[in-house]
Amino acid sequence: MSLSKVIAIDGPSGSGKSTIAKKLAETLGVLYIDTGAMFRSLAYTCDQRNIPMVSGPEIQNFLNSIQLDYGKSSDFLIGIDGVNLTDKIREHSVSKLASIVSQVPEVREYLLHFQRELASRVVCVMEGRDIGTVVFPDAFCKFFVTASVEIRSERRLNQLKEAGTGDMTLEQVMKDVQKRDDSDMNREVAPLKQAEDAALVDTSDMELNEVLKELTGTVQSKAEGNGIHL
Ligand code: DC
Repeated sequence: MSLSKVIAIDGPSGSGKSTIAKKLAETLGVLYIDTGAMFRSLAYTCDQRNIPMVSGPEIQNFLNSIQLDYGKSSDFLIGIDGVNLTDKIREHSVSKLASIVSQVPEVREYLLHFQRELASRVVCVMEGRDIGTVVFPDAFCKFFVTASVEIRSERRLNQLKEAGTGDMTLEQVMKDVQKRDDSDMNREVAPLKQAEDAALVDTSDMELNEVLKELTGTVQSKAEGNGIHL
């Protein structure tokens, strides 16, 4: 059986998986695909157009009617109906909306096909919550990246401070992180969980370069073992 040429990176928010996935793709010279950005774009646009983020015909019609673009250029990572959403979707308010829209089965089904189509012909690093379990269970290489709640909350607080919106306390951020973990791990469709064949990477006490070195080595030996050219 031939395996998908996908390097799947899943894990909770704040685990450092985005930074790792981006750097890993850069190091290997392959495409980087951020699936969280897709959920964020759909959530943002539903909110703008007053589409209720619940299962039903309204959201299905919305999904049938839109043109979702991914990776047009470095400035246009993601957009819907020609509108570039690359920066807009990073706002704090969109994180909550994305968590809500990600629970709608029609949305997950739509993005499942979109993601499979996008990665069908190329080697890529795809980052998300359900890539190794649902989207590409046959990915040739899988990682589950995590870190303790405390560390992830500290990282999130630092990000908020850097963005100039850091007036929350560590306790408040920790509550938010736990709430998001809870909804990501306990939703009915495609919950966040480690695939049985995914390597666990705990970044709590590791430097980025250390993690990258470990992951690059694993990818290269798996690619070699499976006859995949990077
Ligand atoms: O990784 P992120 O914070 O950009 O993700 C935004 C939201 O989308 C988050 O609540 C989890 C959800 N998500 C998901 O359910 N499945 C994915 N493959 C990626 C993200």
